[in-house]
Amino acid sequence: MAKPAAKKATGKTLRKLTKAQLIDELNKDLAKEYAALIQYVQHASVITGPQYDSISAELTVHSNEEHQHAITLSDQIDFLGGVPDVNVADIHISPDSKIMLEQDLVGELDAIARYRERIGQAEMLQEYGLRRALEDILIIEEEHARDLQSALDL
Ligand SMILES: [Fe+2]
Ligand SMILES: [Fe+2]
Repeated sequence: MAKPAAKKATGKTLRKLTKAQLIDELNKDLAKEYAALIQYVQHASVITGPQYDSISAELTVHSNEEHQHAITLSDQIDFLGGVPDVNVADIHISPDSKIMLEQDLVGELDAIARYRERIGQAEMLQEYGLRRALEDILIIEEEHARDLQSALDL
């Protein structure tokens, strides 16, 4: 009985991390922002169907916002004394418009989870400027997810 409870408790506790580990995590976030930027450019061009007209324009807006997030993360990594990576995470494409939007939504939900965790870590390391920058990014990712959910009638 005690063992599973202990496991559960550890899973919920914010992992103690160093500034170097935080920089590593931010670099993974950055690679995902670059991937999202490119994925949205491709999806905005390829998506078809009258029901997707308004979301198509919105995907280009998302792409520009992911670009801004990449700039913010790159600057924050530099401020922390790290070197911003130029890696690009996996990009997902499809010939099916609905699947494209589902791929975008998966990315946004992942980003929301990652930034929630990252905000807690920034707080833990008393990096309040970073925390504020991450909160601003999180607000936009939540908007992105809502745009996609509404286009998918979710
Ligand atoms: Fe983003
Ligand atoms: Fe996003």
